[in-house]
Amino acid sequence: MCGIVGYTGFKPATPILLNGLVKLEYRGYDSAGLALAARNGSVQIIKKVGKIHNLISTVKHSKISPNVTSGIGHTRWATHGQPTDINAHPHSGCGNNVAVVHNGIIENYQQLKDQLKAKGHRFKSQTDSEVLAHLLEDELKKYPVEKAVPQALAKIEGTYSVVIIDQSKPDTLIGARSGGGALVVGLGKGENFLASDVSALLAYTREVFYLEDHEMVIVTPQGVTVLNLSNGKTVKKQVAEIAWTAEQAEKGGYPHFMLKEIMEQPTALQDTFTGRLDPSTGKVILEGAFWSSPYLKQFKKITLLGMGTSYYAALVGKFLLEKYLRIQVEVDNASEFRYRNPIVDKKTLVVVISQSGETVDTLTALREAKSKGAKIIAICNVMGSSVTRESEAVLLTRAGPEIGVASTKAFTTQLGAFWLLTLHLAGVRRAMKPAELRKKSHELAKVPLQMESVLKQTKAIEKVAKEYSTYFNFLYLGRGFQYPIALEGALKLKEISYIHAEGYPGGEMKHGPIALIDSKMPVVAIALKSSSTYEKMLNNIEEVKARKGKILAVIEKGDKEARRKANSVLEIPAVAEDISPMLSVLPLQLMAYEIAKLKRREIDQPRNLAKSVTVE
Ligand code: F6R
Repeated sequence: MCGIVGYTGFKPATPILLNGLVKLEYRGYDSAGLALAARNGSVQIIKKVGKIHNLISTVKHSKISPNVTSGIGHTRWATHGQPTDINAHPHSGCGNNVAVVHNGIIENYQQLKDQLKAKGHRFKSQTDSEVLAHLLEDELKKYPVEKAVPQALAKIEGTYSVVIIDQSKPDTLIGARSGGGALVVGLGKGENFLASDVSALLAYTREVFYLEDHEMVIVTPQGVTVLNLSNGKTVKKQVAEIAWTAEQAEKGGYPHFMLKEIMEQPTALQDTFTGRLDPSTGKVILEGAFWSSPYLKQFKKITLLGMGTSYYAALVGKFLLEKYLRIQVEVDNASEFRYRNPIVDKKTLVVVISQSGETVDTLTALREAKSKGAKIIAICNVMGSSVTRESEAVLLTRAGPEIGVASTKAFTTQLGAFWLLTLHLAGVRRAMKPAELRKKSHELAKVPLQMESVLKQTKAIEKVAKEYSTYFNFLYLGRGFQYPIALEGALKLKEISYIHAEGYPGGEMKHGPIALIDSKMPVVAIALKSSSTYEKMLNNIEEVKARKGKILAVIEKGDKEARRKANSVLEIPAVAEDISPMLSVLPLQLMAYEIAKLKRREIDQPRNLAKSVTVE
């Protein structure tokens, strides 16, 4: 997601910070900025929407004293507020004495903002992060920066990785972390560094340590001190030597972005839920007036539109919305919808799903629906993209930048977003009882941890991948909630390994695909005991076996019967059927990845594919 860099030492800070930001570009961003500790008693902030070269040319035309030797920088990936100059980081309070860069989400920002406004603070941006700058401004009136920072952070609920610079001690940077992504301290001689990942530091130092949650670091040119934020005690850190190349560093040590992104899914889903899902009340809190508009009680039909993986997420969305709202939900491939004079009107709520927000078919379908009077909600990963700008409301998936062409974390966060949408609409339309809403929210809150347990099975998945990588054709079968996962699993395999794979509803097998089955045609069957069609899937498995087909089954942990029937299994924890797609897709992503690796494919940039399909 966002990138952070900080420098304090004896060299001019600006080129070091800009160079660090360039090294963080791969993380994806929509704006960038610097705060420099000018020696005239203020902090100079320069920030610009768009690529870093915009910031560099603004810096060139700004008056910066060459003897500025400390500062902080940030690349922003919008979550609260559009990508604009003003919403870019660093943020200051009412004055320019303190500046802050922040990764993460401040859940109680609205409440804090209201309190601060009542005290006379004036806000410039729409971000949650600016709240911290104002809190610090107040605390700095009472305490030195080393004390003001923990005081201000104690008021925050949510996640953060922050770096702060204050004019009263221009050589001192304060970093702190509680969730919100990594914060690395880099050690030099007479100079020290902070960054959200080591790729920003490799040109200057290889001696680093990472901050743990609830730790704060005071960084000066002469040294660093780490404190525990909960008890104020000093923490001794183990310094490590980084042996990575710059390319390895960008991927966080993973060989491919796709694997990194697969592994990021628990955090990405957690981020998508943070501040929105409240298991104690069962209420979903979404930003913007649309979410409380009377229209949400009045619409008569829902149409979901997307392409590729986003379309498959929409298929899961249909199951959820129909199950809990008992309303008609239609899913359409956006490229089909746009050309067939679709039946939508002002009573139709259209939900457009897109990771990039720039897919031309999806965007054109959105415009078509809008021209017919429909109201549009976007489930999108890129704030400020065309889809978000043209929609009434945005439910941002907070997956962070997805660089691997094959979509992984965008998909599972889209499923998370569909849950938020379903529970919100069910609450507004009183389609679910409060107790039921609370129960489902509790179950959902557990999913990030359950995902972690599935992603730990790398050895089992590597073994299965070896066994299956020599086949040329695969059939993926699923029923109900698992049917879209069969489609998505097959898509992942074909995209990155170039093996032919097709997904089908289990019930469709007898109507044609069964003709293909023989000992050379493995079938991936998603057969979860919690599913209402479990027995039917077991029948599918028997039918495949009777034709000498090989079965790789995704099953619930401990399901002896399915295990006995299959040739190989991949396991997921037992969860409710409607929650299971967020887990059952994980082993299929990993298996596709491992097979593609064995076949030495260009995993992050498969042939003929583009990350964002902006032409027809
Ligand atoms: C598959 C994949 C594509 C995209 C599709 C839509 O791994 O990445 O199928 O899902 O091109 O893209 P977005 O979601 O950006 O609209």
